[in-house]
Amino acid sequence: MHGDTGDLYRTFAEQEARGNSATYRELAERVAEDGRLCALLDGLPAAKRQPNLLFGAVRHLGGPVAEGWPAFRDWVAAHWDETSATMLERRTQTNEAGRCATLLPLLATLPQPLALIEVGASAGLCLYPDRYRYRYLPADGAGDPVAEFGAAASPVALDCAVSGPVPLPASLRERLPEVVWRAGIDLNPLDVRAEEDVRWLESLVWPEQTHRLDRLRGAVRVARAEPPLLVRGDLNATVRELVARVPAGATPVVFHSAVLAYLPPEAREEFAATVRELPGHWISNEAVSVLPAVARRLPRPAPAGSGLFALARDGRPVAFTGPHGQSLDWFDDAPAAGPGRTSDTRA
Ligand SMILES: C[S@@+](CC[C@H](N)C(=O)[O-])C[C@H]1O[C@@H](n2cnc3c(N)ncnc32)[C@H](O)[C@@H]1O
Repeated sequence: MHGDTGDLYRTFAEQEARGNSATYRELAERVAEDGRLCALLDGLPAAKRQPNLLFGAVRHLGGPVAEGWPAFRDWVAAHWDETSATMLERRTQTNEAGRCATLLPLLATLPQPLALIEVGASAGLCLYPDRYRYRYLPADGAGDPVAEFGAAASPVALDCAVSGPVPLPASLRERLPEVVWRAGIDLNPLDVRAEEDVRWLESLVWPEQTHRLDRLRGAVRVARAEPPLLVRGDLNATVRELVARVPAGATPVVFHSAVLAYLPPEAREEFAATVRELPGHWISNEAVSVLPAVARRLPRPAPAGSGLFALARDGRPVAFTGPHGQSLDWFDDAPAAGPGRTSDTRA
């Protein structure tokens, strides 16, 4: 074991890659034991030593990740300058359109039409919930879909296993949320029209998860047809200004998934305080420990080691969600759907 970096890679192997990627699990375990590679990684700032960043950079540069440890180790040693430069230049910005399947039931219950503002949007692929197809399946996988609807010709079909009283009313089967405005904020917005950015997004999808790669490519096609407005900036510095640009008559919905973990706790608190004061609604979808105020209101703890996210509307938890949108476990006592905030629209 080699210090903190070794621990980082071993933890990743056990807690994240295990059961999801045999390739990354093996590579991460071997990196953890390799003093030379750990020493190279230690030369980078702490935030740049992450396994996902190293493996994504190697794939982005055309290096071998699926050819076994010796090929990976030798390639990285021979190409460390390019690899480290890519790790310094890029960020882990995985953009997962699948998360729209868990956001959709909440979005559909808000006063329509909607203006979507995603903070930490990456390339903005979660800004198109009205452009995808959905199949909500029983949690045990048996039987017919619970609901199936969406944009019929969409190249993106999202499957989501549901449990609990998810609000999928009959009307939702015919009606998707009506989105009249969509915009995002990111420290480093990725451009769906730029090949290099799309290749980077592809490099971040884990090797065995070919269904996620197909989904990413489909979502990029959707976004290219109508590229989103993405603003470069810190979410705390920019969110007010973007909400102020929402067209009259639309309900502003500020949302985020897999973003606030990148912020220190004080900045998360600052964001939560800001967004509570803004008109419209706030939807958060983050790992359970990321927003303590949401975590404290959970009706039950998430199963240990599950990696589940907590989905919350205006700070009140409504469900656990699979981190890539693959499951939605609605709470029995989730707050009822409907407005619930005083200033719902900017009319
Ligand atoms: C893991 S990605 C998630 C992207 C998208 N929300 C999704 O669910 O697919 C996290 C994104 O948050 C962005 N980000 C992190 N900290 C940020 C900040 N303080 N302000 C704006 N964006 C930030 C990163 O650049 C990255 O694109």
